[in-house]
Amino acid sequence: MQIKTGLATGALLSATALAANSTSSVPSSCSVKSGATVTAQADLDKYSGCQTLVGDLTISGDSLTGSASLANVKEIQGTLSVNNATELESFSADNLEKISGSLEMKLLTILESASFGSLSEVDSILFQTLPAISSISSNLKSVNSIEITDTSLESIDGFNKLERVNEFNVNNNRGLAHIDSELKSVAQSLQVSFNGNDADVKFDSLEWANNITLRNVSSASFAALEKVNASLGFIDNSFDSLNMSSLGSVGGTLSLVANEQLTDADFSNLTEIGGALLIANNTRLSNIDGFDNVKTVGSALNVVGNFSELKLSALKSVKGGCDVETKSSNYTCDSLKKLQKSGGIQGDAFVCKNGATSTSIKLSSTSGSSTASGSSSGSASATSSGSSGSSSASKSSNGAVAGQIVPASSFMGAVAAVAVALL
Ligand SMILES: *[C@@H]1O[C@H](CO)[C@@H](O)[C@H](O)[C@H]1NC(C)=O
Ligand SMILES: *[C@@H]1O[C@H](CO)[C@@H](O)[C@H](O)[C@H]1NC(C)=O
Ligand SMILES: *[C@@H]1O[C@H](CO)[C@@H](O)[C@H](O)[C@H]1NC(C)=O
Ligand SMILES: *[C@@H]1O[C@H](CO)[C@@H](O)[C@H](O)[C@H]1NC(C)=O
Ligand SMILES: *[C@@H]1O[C@H](CO)[C@@H](O)[C@H](O)[C@H]1NC(C)=O
Ligand SMILES: *[C@@H]1O[C@H](CO)[C@@H](O)[C@H](O)[C@H]1NC(C)=O
Ligand SMILES: *[C@@H]1O[C@H](CO)[C@@H](O)[C@H](O)[C@H]1NC(C)=O
Ligand SMILES: *[C@@H]1O[C@H](CO)[C@@H](O)[C@H](O)[C@H]1NC(C)=O
Ligand SMILES: *[C@@H]1O[C@H](CO)[C@@H](O)[C@H](O)[C@H]1NC(C)=O
Ligand SMILES: *[C@@H]1O[C@H](CO)[C@@H](O)[C@H](O)[C@H]1NC(C)=O
Repeated sequence: MQIKTGLATGALLSATALAANSTSSVPSSCSVKSGATVTAQADLDKYSGCQTLVGDLTISGDSLTGSASLANVKEIQGTLSVNNATELESFSADNLEKISGSLEMKLLTILESASFGSLSEVDSILFQTLPAISSISSNLKSVNSIEITDTSLESIDGFNKLERVNEFNVNNNRGLAHIDSELKSVAQSLQVSFNGNDADVKFDSLEWANNITLRNVSSASFAALEKVNASLGFIDNSFDSLNMSSLGSVGGTLSLVANEQLTDADFSNLTEIGGALLIANNTRLSNIDGFDNVKTVGSALNVVGNFSELKLSALKSVKGGCDVETKSSNYTCDSLKKLQKSGGIQGDAFVCKNGATSTSIKLSSTSGSSTASGSSSGSASATSSGSSGSSSASKSSNGAVAGQIVPASSFMGAVAAVAVALL
């Protein structure tokens, strides 16, 4: 039921002392032939006299039944992969302290437990398709990259103590209900998506991350987050409020899309957005007043929904175009029109529609046109902005929406296309 890893504090010290550099004296019996696959416990036992294994150790095949273990080995200078051992129920390597490459456990259909009781340092971790495992506990101190996907883990508490990683990607783990991480920085990407629809996610120590994408989480907390260097996206989440009040800048695109319960989004300290600001289909978000300190948007401003208020009183510069559409007739386009007239919106296209009126200006055409329709059922669909000349938009969503897993939903394509078209 468990994956256990943990570093006994004393163990590290004695290990360091013992680990007098033995690389040059690794016996040939402790070097793993490249391409070789271990298929039986007897093969693993051959390494039990080794403190250090050199090479990539792959354990695989359906002749490994029940439990398997790698005894005594403290260090692998290479990778450890346990994959496609479909009869394996448990695996342990409790003396292993360090893996210089990756630790992979993939496609282990009945594996219930795995234990790496001493493991403190590994370059990357990939756990993929482990449908029978339910929890991990570990005290890993150093990992560059973590991907946990398609497992039945209910907790990843074992990874909560890590402070710095390059990549943290936890997706499609249906039983996972919460993450409470002590991460301070994520140098590349932080992604949490499609875990149980009630996953509560806390990254309250996180100060900065290169980019962040959250999908289908039920609560999100980033109490200390000051900066996202590249993109930040919240898509399809079920939280009703989102407090990002410590966040001062987003280097790339900020997307807030299809969070259907969201009524309150607080980005009150945010002044700079390097890319686009995309707020769309947050059905209940009627007062968009949490972006009131935003001064600059480095690309398009794209806000689509049924909002009666969009407060952007500090906004001075939008480098891209503007597409603001709401079903509500309470919203007035006046301040955005004013900003556009004074040159604050620098992109080609300007569309502002509310339930009653619509203004479209395409600056690149010889004569800018401004239309007012009496329709009180003005559509807020992103695709309706064809009148702005953006219907020829490329379908590429690069840069417009945060996250590597972009759903094939045509809506997202449409919104992204509009955002791109307005760049
Ligand atoms: C151990 O050996 C490796 C390879 O020979 C070398 O790169 C490393 O610097 C050595 N470490 C120590 C602590 O001597
Ligand atoms: C898994 O192992 C089985 C045989 O045990 C083999 O037929 C199958 O192709 C392997 N699958 C993968 C993805 O390697
Ligand atoms: C994610 O959330 C959306 C909106 O609530 C829902 O329609 C979708 O099925 C969810 N996706 C997954 C994979 O849970
Ligand atoms: C992101 O921002 C942090 C904090 O300012 C900085 O330390 C880090 O080097 C930046 N990372 C990248 C990839 O630009
Ligand atoms: C967000 O959190 C900050 C700091 O805890 C707090 O001062 C602020 O009132 C919160 N915003 C909302 C809308 O709750
Ligand atoms: C807002 O940002 C400033 C620095 O720009 C910082 O001093 C302040 O604590 C931040 N406010 C919140 C609520 O985090
Ligand atoms: C728009 O929001 C108002 C309340 O703010 C609600 O009465 C109305 O039904 C919503 N319209 C649509 C089309 O969702
Ligand atoms: C829209 O404006 C009307 C009239 O001022 C007001 O009664 C109504 O509450 C407003 N609706 C919203 C959703 O703010
Ligand atoms: C977003 O809004 C558009 C236009 O109203 C609609 O066609 C689409 O289904 C919505 N998508 C989601 C995920 O709510
Ligand atoms: C997030 O950052 C990583 C690492 O720099 C990059 O590979 C990835 O494409 C980025 N994702 C987005 C959506 O910007």
